[in-house]
Amino acid sequence: MSTVDSQKRVLSGMRPTGLLHLGHYHGVLKNWVQLQNEYQSFYFVADWHALTTHYATPSVIEASVMNMVIDWLAAGVDPEKATLFIQSSVPEHAELHLLLSMMTPLGWLERVPSYKDQQDKLRDKDLETYGFLGYPLLQSADILIYRAGFVPVGADQVAHVELTREIARRFNHLYGREADHEQLALTAIKKMGKKTAKDILLLRTAFQQQGDHQALAQGQTLIREQQNLSLGDRERVMGYLEGSGKVILAEPRALLTPAAKMPGLDGQKMSKSYGNTISLREPVDGLTKKINTMPTDPARIRLSDAGNPENCPVWQLHEVYSDTDTKNWVQQGCRSAGIGCLACKKPLIDAVVAELEPMQKRGAQYQLDPGEVRNILIKGSERARSHAVETLTEVRAAMGLNYR
Ligand code: TRP
Ligand code: SF4
Repeated sequence: MSTVDSQKRVLSGMRPTGLLHLGHYHGVLKNWVQLQNEYQSFYFVADWHALTTHYATPSVIEASVMNMVIDWLAAGVDPEKATLFIQSSVPEHAELHLLLSMMTPLGWLERVPSYKDQQDKLRDKDLETYGFLGYPLLQSADILIYRAGFVPVGADQVAHVELTREIARRFNHLYGREADHEQLALTAIKKMGKKTAKDILLLRTAFQQQGDHQALAQGQTLIREQQNLSLGDRERVMGYLEGSGKVILAEPRALLTPAAKMPGLDGQKMSKSYGNTISLREPVDGLTKKINTMPTDPARIRLSDAGNPENCPVWQLHEVYSDTDTKNWVQQGCRSAGIGCLACKKPLIDAVVAELEPMQKRGAQYQLDPGEVRNILIKGSERARSHAVETLTEVRAAMGLNYR
């Protein structure tokens, strides 16, 4: 059994499909930077995941990998604290993905909400592929191979972490058992009612002590008939009936970014597909222009028209960047037509510049030294790989695949 403490470990990945923007920073990166001080952190470039949607244009991915890692470093991700690597440099992810695919019901993948959503959204791409259906399972392999207890992601990824939990549970049920398995199983059995609980315990004894296979089959049927048991409890009780073992794969939890979604220049969520982003590499004059041309409350046609910040995307940015005094100044000035929109935008420009300036300085250093970035990734991949190999060795053994 592994000695890894999952509760101390986080893992997260990002797809390299273009330049990073403030949405990535406020949505994920800032969280990564925070977490690297508190956890053993593994952050990786999900280049295989990018291929599931960009298989026809892989050059996009190739061009983005290094720049994305430079943006991470620029944002304050520290290679001395966190392990940074590229997914495809740790081929063990692919082997675990394959092994997990053997026991993953198709329906589990078809039901993941992002599957149909993304197919509908990315209509210009043919996503009727094997690889795309397997996207969330590959993500499960990414997480499980490091036995990460926590996965810092945005809200859109929670369903994938949930799937990962189910996969881990199913794997442990088939090939091992969780540590407090007996306790949890007994609690679950109690939920089945006195009579059924008693029957299950008798059937278990009959099977485990007398080798009565009919008793086993009867018990399995009884458990399958329990409609009010959760999936996890069902697996546990099944495992208890059949005989207990150990945990091999740890169940992770999503660690949601505390910040609400980052608004873009038009008030919608900041996203490349809406064309409303500010890149982390945006020069001062570019971002000044972008903010100065942001739409404002349409009711404020003239300076003398009073406005309402609730109808203005600029206000949403103040919610992210401004302190109470500035926010009060905006609210009063806008509603009384006491300030103009350009004046209102000025503190925002200052705040974004102050946020990006140190990042861009740090980023520029790394851009001048691509060898250093490559070294960071080589070292990170080696470190990641040694952890991945450890898990995979246990997984292989559990599945009867070590022929030595
Ligand atoms: N699917 C994630 C995204 O689109 C990227 C990703 C791949 C990931 N593997 C992961 C995130 C493992 C967390 C953990 O953002
Ligand atoms: Fe928006 Fe500020 Fe103009 Fe009001 S004053 S409409 S909040 S930009």
